[in-house]
Amino acid sequence: MTGAAPLLEVTDLAVEFRTPGGVVRAVDGLTYQVEAGRTLAIVGESGSGKSVSSLAVMGLLGPTAHVTRGTARLNGTDLLALPPREHRARCGQDVAMVFQDALAALNPVLTVGFQLTEALRARHRISRGEARQRAVELLDLVKVPHARERVRDYPHQFSGGMRQRVMIACALALDPKVLIADEPTTALDVTVQAQVLRLLAEIQAERQMGLVLITHDLGVVAGVADDVTVMYAGRAVEQAGVLGAFRSPAHPYTRALLQSVPQLGSRTRLPVIPGRPPGPGDRPAGCPFHPRCALAQDVCRADPPPPLVEAAPGRWSACHFAGDVLRGAAVPAETTPEGDPR
Ligand SMILES: Nc1ncnc2c1ncn2[C@@H]1O[C@H](COP(=O)(O)OP(=O)(O)OP(=O)(O)O)[C@@H](O)[C@H]1O
Ligand code: SF4
Ligand SMILES: [Mg+2]
Repeated sequence: MTGAAPLLEVTDLAVEFRTPGGVVRAVDGLTYQVEAGRTLAIVGESGSGKSVSSLAVMGLLGPTAHVTRGTARLNGTDLLALPPREHRARCGQDVAMVFQDALAALNPVLTVGFQLTEALRARHRISRGEARQRAVELLDLVKVPHARERVRDYPHQFSGGMRQRVMIACALALDPKVLIADEPTTALDVTVQAQVLRLLAEIQAERQMGLVLITHDLGVVAGVADDVTVMYAGRAVEQAGVLGAFRSPAHPYTRALLQSVPQLGSRTRLPVIPGRPPGPGDRPAGCPFHPRCALAQDVCRADPPPPLVEAAPGRWSACHFAGDVLRGAAVPAETTPEGDPR
C-alpha cells in the first residue's frame, strides 16, 4: 500500500446466513483496502469467506444472507448503508466482478455478443450498433481470436480459458474503477492461467483500476499482486505488501502457508498445516487458528486476538504475538501477549 486514499475500503465486514440448520457466520471481521492502480490479492483456504465477502460488497447476496457488521466504502461512500437498488446501481457504475464460475455466470441461451452489448448499453448511452462494435473491440482486447465472428457464439462454444476472457470482457464493459476477480483462473491449466493473469495485469495497469484478485494460489499472489490480505475462518489475519509478507510474515498462518509451498529443486519433505480449517459452525474459542498453530499459548485458547494491529509500519496482523512472529522469534512458552512472565 502506498498510503494514497483507497478506492475501496472494507472494514470489519461480517456476513451470516440464517438457515433452517442455524446461523452460519461465513464472514466474521474482514478488513482490506485497494488503491487505484494496485492489485490486492485475497488469499484463503476454501470456505474462508472470500466469495461471500465479495458478493456482499457487490450487493449480490441472496435473501438468507445478512450483513451484520462493517462498512464497504467506495470513494468514501458506504455501499452497505445504501438501499439495495442504489447499492447495486452504484456498483454497476464503479465496481465489476469476474465470478468464480464463468459458465454459471454467463447466460447459456444468449450469445456472448448479446450479453456484452446489454452490459455496454446498461452503462453507456450508445446505440445497438455502436454497442455491437464495442463488444467486438472488447473481445479483441481480452485476446479472443476472430472476435468479429465469435460474438455470435454461445458460452458453451468457448473453452474454459476463452470463457474466462469473455467474463473479463463483460466486466470491463462496465468501465469499472475496481474489478473484483474471484478465482478467475482456478479451472484453467497453468499456461492458460498465466495468459489470463497477464491479461488482467495489463488491463489493470492500463486503466489504473484497483484490482481485487481472489485466489488460494500463493504463486499467483507472488506473480501479480502488490498487496495481500490473508483470510482465515472468515476474517483477515494478515495484511501487508506482498514482498514484506512473503519475506517475513507477521501471522503464523501465513508463515505456515508459505512453508507448505513446494520449492523447485528442493527434496526436503514439505511441512503441512495439521488439521483442517474450522467450518463456520465449529470455530474454537480464542484464536480460531489455535488448534493448528505451532506457536499457540494458553492465552490463544482463551482470548481471541485483536483484529488487525500494525506490528510494524504497513504490516498488519491479528495474532497475540504478531511482533514476535514478524521478527522471526520463537514465542516463549508461558508468556502473556504483553510478554510478561506469568
Ligand atoms: N447460501 C449459503 N448458505 C449457507 N452457508 C453458505 C452459503 N453460501 C456460502 N456459505 C458458507 O459460507 C462460508 C464461506 O463461503 P465462500 O463461498 O465465501 O468460501 P470461499 O472462501 O469463497 O471458498 P472457495 O475457495 O471454495 O471458493 C462457507 O462455509 C460456505 O459453506
Ligand atoms: S494468536 Fe496464538 S494461536 Fe493464534 S495465530 Fe497467534 S500464536 Fe497462533
Ligand atoms: Mg469462492
